[in-house]
Amino acid sequence: MSANGSTLASVPAAHPPIRGRGTVVSNVVDGHGRKLRLRVEGWPGAWPGQFVMVGAGAESGVPRRDPLLPRPMAVYRELPEEGPGGGTARDVELLYRVVGRGTTLLSEAVEGETVSIVGPLGQGFPVEAGEGPALLAGGGTGIASLYGLARGLAAAGRETVVMLGARGEQDLIGRADFAALAEEGVELLCATEDGSVGVEGFVTVSLRERLASAGASATVFAVGPTPMMRACAELADEVGARCLVSLENPMACGFGVCLGCAAPRAEGGFSLVCKAGPVFDAREIAWEGLP
Ligand SMILES: Cc1cc2nc3c(=O)[nH]c(=O)nc-3n(C[C@H](O)[C@H](O)[C@H](O)COP(=O)(O)OP(=O)(O)OC[C@H]3O[C@@H](n4cnc5c(N)ncnc54)[C@H](O)[C@@H]3O)c2cc1C
Ligand code: FES
Repeated sequence: MSANGSTLASVPAAHPPIRGRGTVVSNVVDGHGRKLRLRVEGWPGAWPGQFVMVGAGAESGVPRRDPLLPRPMAVYRELPEEGPGGGTARDVELLYRVVGRGTTLLSEAVEGETVSIVGPLGQGFPVEAGEGPALLAGGGTGIASLYGLARGLAAAGRETVVMLGARGEQDLIGRADFAALAEEGVELLCATEDGSVGVEGFVTVSLRERLASAGASATVFAVGPTPMMRACAELADEVGARCLVSLENPMACGFGVCLGCAAPRAEGGFSLVCKAGPVFDAREIAWEGLP
């Protein structure tokens, strides 16, 4: 176990984070969510599963006090692969839903405005070739953590299946982007509670089926609401498969100072989700103690 409490040995050292600002390139509707593309000077690149702390709305001449704190968001995509015009700027895309004041202000940011950004932060997913299939289960906005992971695993030669679950078609944000990954060998399965796309029910319906054939050789990667991740972890456990989850505990600082994101560990004690995580082996987590 490393000093920060994580047991994910195969995750390489992350790039040192930057504290900077992103210029809004676009901020568009995607179903019931939005995609915010920021051009960030000196962006060092993120590992799949890492996140940023992004300002709650565009910067203005006066420092913002309401809300004061930035909001954690997964790095969804980095576009293009090289900096525009050969410079050091990279475009970082976030996939988000408007749930409160911070994300409402973020949704109002328009092209050319700037948004503060700190990142990349946290420990991401291990991207390993491995023998059995990689089964990626995403629910709600957890979908955002899986795009880079799916590409990385497929590029490493792993059989990669992405399973997205949501209430209905409009809640499957990012679905078209994931569908386009078919060209890179990523299979996409959808589950909706209203049956409008894919199988009717939760994402665990598809996961259960795939685990029944893959068994212990599979690795499950689950991101979404806590009950969904816990259900995925239990399904993986039933067949002896490894399950990695990415926790979304609310965060105030994002780098280990406020202690607000602590998650209870199965063996006792706590881990800071922003430093030791957000990715953990599901067996490390005391699920009953999570928000
Ligand atoms: C590591 C990490 C990555 C995340 N990645 C994404 C992402 O890619 N896309 C995305 O849309 N969201 C993501 N989230 C959640 C996102 O940070 C919150 O939705 C956001 O902070 C809400 O801010 P707000 O000011 O709009 O809402 P607030 O006014 O702060 O809260 C509005 C409502 O949302 C609830 N809420 C706030 N934060 C969370 C949370 N972390 N989990 C569950 N409910 C919450 C509150 O309890 C309240 O009911 C991530 C969270 C973490 C910790
Ligand atoms: S968010 Fe402050 S310690 Fe983790």
